[in-house]
This record gives sequence, C-alpha cells and structure tokens, in this order.
Amino acid sequence: MTIFTLILAIANLLLFLSKASSIDTLTLSQSLPDGTTLVSKDETFELGFFSLRNSTNRYLGIWFKNIPVKTVVWVANRDYPLKDNSTKLIITNDGNLVLLTKNNKVQWSTNTTTKASRPILQLLNTGNLVLRNDNEDNKNNNKSSNNNNEDRFLWQSFDYPSDTLLPGMKLGWYRKTGLNRRVIAWKNWDDPSPGNFSWGITFDSNPEMVLWKGSFKYHRSGPWNGIRFSGAFGGSNRLSTHPLFVYKLINNDDEVYYSYSLTNKSVISIVVMNQTLLRRQRNIWIPENGTWRLFQTAPRDICDTYNPCGSYANCMVDSSPVCQCLEGFKPKSLDTMEQGCVRSEPWSCKVEGRDGFRKFVGLKFPDTTHSWINKSMTLEECKVKCWENCSCTAYANLDIRGAGSGCSIWFGDLIDLKVVSQSGQYLYIRMADSQTDAKDAHKKKELLLIGTIVPPIVLVILLAIFYSYKRKRKYEEENVSVVKKDEAGGQEHSMELPLFDLATLVNATNNFSTDNKLGQGGFGPVYKVN
Ligand SMILES: *[C@@H]1O[C@H](CO)[C@@H](O)[C@H](O)[C@H]1NC(C)=O
Ligand SMILES: *[C@@H]1O[C@H](CO)[C@@H](O)[C@H](O)[C@H]1NC(C)=O
Ligand SMILES: *[C@@H]1O[C@H](CO)[C@@H](O)[C@H](O)[C@H]1NC(C)=O
Ligand SMILES: *[C@@H]1O[C@H](CO)[C@@H](O)[C@H](O)[C@H]1NC(C)=O
Ligand SMILES: *[C@@H]1O[C@H](CO)[C@@H](O)[C@H](O)[C@H]1NC(C)=O
Ligand SMILES: *[C@@H]1O[C@H](CO)[C@@H](O)[C@H](O)[C@H]1NC(C)=O
Ligand SMILES: *[C@@H]1O[C@H](CO)[C@@H](O)[C@H](O)[C@H]1NC(C)=O
Ligand SMILES: *[C@@H]1O[C@H](CO)[C@@H](O)[C@H](O)[C@H]1NC(C)=O
Ligand SMILES: *[C@@H]1O[C@H](CO)[C@@H](O)[C@H](O)[C@H]1NC(C)=O
Ligand SMILES: *[C@@H]1O[C@H](CO)[C@@H](O)[C@H](O)[C@H]1NC(C)=O
Repeated sequence: MTIFTLILAIANLLLFLSKASSIDTLTLSQSLPDGTTLVSKDETFELGFFSLRNSTNRYLGIWFKNIPVKTVVWVANRDYPLKDNSTKLIITNDGNLVLLTKNNKVQWSTNTTTKASRPILQLLNTGNLVLRNDNEDNKNNNKSSNNNNEDRFLWQSFDYPSDTLLPGMKLGWYRKTGLNRRVIAWKNWDDPSPGNFSWGITFDSNPEMVLWKGSFKYHRSGPWNGIRFSGAFGGSNRLSTHPLFVYKLINNDDEVYYSYSLTNKSVISIVVMNQTLLRRQRNIWIPENGTWRLFQTAPRDICDTYNPCGSYANCMVDSSPVCQCLEGFKPKSLDTMEQGCVRSEPWSCKVEGRDGFRKFVGLKFPDTTHSWINKSMTLEECKVKCWENCSCTAYANLDIRGAGSGCSIWFGDLIDLKVVSQSGQYLYIRMADSQTDAKDAHKKKELLLIGTIVPPIVLVILLAIFYSYKRKRKYEEENVSVVKKDEAGGQEHSMELPLFDLATLVNATNNFSTDNKLGQGGFGPVYKVN
C-alpha cells in the first residue's frame, strides 16, 4: 500500500466520520450528550445544547445550522435550565424524550402517554423534531422523502412552539385533545423561559389571531374573511399580497389553526415574538448582508393595538383626535373620547321605524368574543337572524369572496373597530331606522327640496357642491363611507358655499346624464357628480 492510497483511505475515513457525525436520527440505544448535535437531512436545522451570552445555563434547542447569527427557533427545557454540561438526551422505551443528568436525574421530559414501539427521534428538514415508531420508516424507505404526516408522530416539537413560528407550523387548536399551540416570547434575550407576551388563536365561534400581554388582549387580527384576516390591510398592502408568503386559516371539526408557507424554498423567514419591544416580527434572512431584515411587525401603531378608542369608534393615526365616532354615533362623554361612542339616535328592537341596519364599508370586523356564525346562510337570512335577536348589534358576510357567503353576527357593543381601506368588507350595524333606510333618505331630501324656493339649476348646484364637499371630506379623513349613494344624513352640516360655473357642472354630472340623475324633486331633477 502506497502512502498515497493510505492518505486516500484516511481521507475517506474522515469523510465518512464527518458524514456519520451529522445524523438526523437518534434511536433507543443511543443518546445525545452535550456537545453533539443532530442535523436535518438538508442541513438547514441543528439540534443540540447551547448557552446564552453570559449565562452558564444549558438548554436543548434547535437553530439554523447555516446562519452565522445564532437563531434559536425552539427550546425544549425553557422552564428547566440545566446547570452543567453533563446532561444527555435519551429516548425512553415508552416513547418519551428525557433529559438525564449524570446522576440519572430527570431534568425534563415530554410526558406523552401515546403507545410506542421502538421509538426513534428525527429532526426533519422543516425544523420539526419528531418522535415516531421506527417501523413506520420501513414501509417508506425513501431517503429523500421527509413526510410531515402528523398521525405518524408520537410527539413533535411543532406542537410545543417556543417564541418562533416557522413555515408549516400550526398556530391554534387541535379540538380532539384540546391541544393549544401558542407562541410565547422569551422573558428576555438571556432567558428563554416564557415571558408574558404571547400569540395564539381564540377558541370562539369565529376564531381570530390575538397577541396577549399577560392575560390582556394587545392586538387582534380580526376574523378570517376567506382571503385574509379582516384587520390586515388590503389592496396595495404587501402583507396580503406579497408573493413570497401564503397564509391560511383552517377551521373545521378537527382543528382550527393558522399557518404560513413560503413560495420560494430557498428563502428563510421566521415570525418571532420580541418581548422587549412587545412586537411580533416577521423577519427574512438576507444572506448577502448576513442579517435578518424586519419585514413586517404587529402591532404597527397605536391604532393597531387592541381597542384604543372604545366602542363604535374609528382610530386614525394621522388625525387629531386619533379617535373618531363612526357616522351616526356621538361621543359617550364630551370631555374625552376614550370611553367610545354611542348611537346619536337610540334604536328600539323590532319597532317599525326605529330598527334597521346601516352599511359600513371597509371596517375591520369587531371583536368576535360575543358572536355567532353560520357558514351556509345568505346575507338576507343573516339579516333576519340578527333582527330577530334583540342583543344582536351587527351582521356581515363570513366570507367576502365572490358575492359573499355565510353569516357572522355580533352581540353587544362593537369594539376594536378601525377603517381598513380597500378591504371589500361590509358591516351592517343596527341603528334607528331613520338613519338606515334609503327610502327615508329620499323623503328627507324631498322635504328639504320642497322647503327651498329656488330654481332647479340652483338645486343642482347645491347638491353638486354638497356631494363634492362630502367626497373631499371623506377622502381627507379616510372615514367610513356609507355606501348608499343617496344617503343624505350629512345635510345637517352647515357650510360656506363656493360657486361653480356651468362648465364644471356639465362636466361633473356627465352633461346632466340620466345615469347621474338621482331623482325628481318638486322643483326639478337632482343629479349626482361623478
Ligand atoms: C463541560 O464543562 C467543563 C467545565 O465547565 C468544561 O471543562 C468542559 O470542556 C465542558 N465540556 C463540554 C463538552 O463542553
Ligand atoms: C451579562 O453581561 C452584561 C454585560 O456584558 C452585564 O451587564 C449583565 O449584568 C450580565 N448578566 C448576567 C446575568 O451576568
Ligand atoms: C412532566 O411531568 C412532571 C411530573 O408530572 C412535571 O413535573 C413536569 O413539569 C412535566 N414536564 C413537562 C415538560 O411538562
Ligand atoms: C422518494 O420520495 C420523493 C419525494 O417524495 C419522490 O419524488 C421519489 O420518487 C421517491 N422515490 C422512491 C424510490 O419512492
Ligand atoms: C410583563 O413582564 C414585564 C417584565 O417581565 C413586566 O414589566 C410587565 O409588567 C409584565 N406585564 C404584564 C401584563 O404582566
Ligand atoms: C428564490 O430565492 C433565491 C434567494 O433569494 C433567489 O436567488 C431565487 O431567484 C428565488 N427564486 C424564485 C423562483 O423566485
Ligand atoms: C427585538 O427588536 C429589536 C428592534 O427591532 C431588535 O434590535 C432585537 O434584536 C430584537 N430581538 C430579537 C431577538 O430579534
Ligand atoms: C444590504 O445592506 C445594504 C447596506 O446596509 C442595503 O443597502 C441593502 O439594501 C441590503 N440588502 C438587502 C437585500 O436588504
Ligand atoms: C345554518 O344555516 C342553514 C341555512 O339557513 C341551516 O340549514 C343550518 O341549520 C344552520 N346551521 C346552524 C348550525 O345553525
Ligand atoms: C340572542 O342571542 C344570544 C347570544 O347567542 C342568546 O343567548 C339569546 O338566547 C338569543 N335570544 C333570542 C331571543 O334568540
């Protein structure tokens, strides 16, 4: 044997050893001592023991193997720090993961009760650490397959998230067992034990994502409207349209959960809870710069926190005051808006002329704690359902896709509202009839017209001015717009009237086209401007 072949053999052996040291599974007879790691097949994730900065505590956790900034995405023993580096991870015969000290003291255990036969531990490419029966793998001896079929797992780390939501992880409930997967921030960056800032899904009839500060709601996504969460910005907002992310909310008899995935598998992105800032942050890894880039954050601003303005109020960051009552509502008290708003005119349940619904456009749907849904009802059935129950205060389509479907109704005061522009959502709020019915609006208008002795063209001018003023005002305030085109509630406003020349009017009314004609008053036709 020449020196060369010997070197080759040694090199091969080293290669073999280095390959062998990077394994993704652990069997019953093996253990994982401090200092060794498991690595997922595609080498994305690594499981092992680690310490944080100047603390000597040891933790078992999972981090990205190929990211120079150590980013721990899961911690096993976040509540049970290890005091030295003599601990090892083992699998027990009954199918549990256990952290054992050198004195054979159990420091942490998975505590599952499922039946196991020859359990093995595997770190999957998704970052999921799973315990499963070994024989399951014999059926499907395919090295490249990395199936994430949950039924096969005795236990999985994805069911016990730490502070990070990875693509494919489920946030929410498994109804059968009552398992609630929540993401909870680290206490601080030197201590992975649970802080008091958490993220989860409510278990109400109409689930929504909520950030909690302790036991208080801190941010609410709004219920899912078939396309996105109702509080997410629509239209041009990159959160709902960015091609990199696919979001979903599943709500069926077995489970209710949120999860997201990435369309480009070579991009690395996580959602992490930041206790110091009280923000949920979505980060993307930028390899060129060797840093995480903040992509999205929640809550974004004061109006994105939970219910800053009280009931029936709209929150607008750029306006002063920030809180404004919805149309048809007035402040509960005059000195401060903080207590929210009440109806300007009270309604009386099922009393003809004092009970109806007013349509609001683009509102984030109210808190769903006191609500009820039906997936198959039409909007008309929904309206009837709401009308028949005197505690019902609003209704809407559950799913806004297409012409809209399903029924969502709310009881009691509506809280945590906000205008979300271009959201395509309509909310029907129960109010005194006089403010809701289109026919009534017409009547009101005609009364006004009859009482005004002016030539028809002046009427047109007045209305044109009124509508253009109203539009401008709406645009400026980004206020709730009431869809009814001929809604006339704003006529109480006194205003200084600017003058328009005929050309402007011809232009604004499409040469007095019939399309723009709203109706015929006692003194002539009435047009709307384009
Ligand atoms: C374990 O800790 C001891 C003392 O702190 C240290 O000397 C030793 O190198 C450590 N071993 C490993 C594998 O980290
Ligand atoms: C960790 O180190 C920082 C400065 O490096 C120091 O201010 C802090 O007190 C240390 N924390 C602990 C727990 O030792
Ligand atoms: C497992 O059960 C033991 C005993 O009931 C308990 O002390 C421990 O906190 C549990 N461990 C986990 C990780 O829940
Ligand atoms: C192994 O699994 C991969 C992906 O699931 C599949 O494309 C491939 O055909 C499988 N190979 C065999 C031999 O079954
Ligand atoms: C949350 O924890 C921080 C620091 O640990 C504390 O200052 C704050 O008061 C806590 N908040 C609640 C609502 O418990
Ligand atoms: C996926 O992301 C990588 C890294 O950012 C990029 O180089 C690649 O072009 C992307 N692929 C697609 C199909 O967008
Ligand atoms: C929390 O957010 C701040 C500001 O964006 C950032 O500097 C810090 O690194 C974040 N913490 C973590 C661990 O991401
Ligand atoms: C990398 O950093 C530079 C300078 O900080 C910045 O201009 C650039 O946009 C960053 N690249 C990406 C992809 O974010
Ligand atoms: C939902 O509405 C449909 C149609 O009105 C009705 O048949 C069904 O019983 C309702 N379901 C529930 C749970 O109320
Ligand atoms: C109205 O709805 C509430 C809440 O679901 C319910 O408790 C109450 O019984 C309903 N009232 C009527 C008259 O149906």
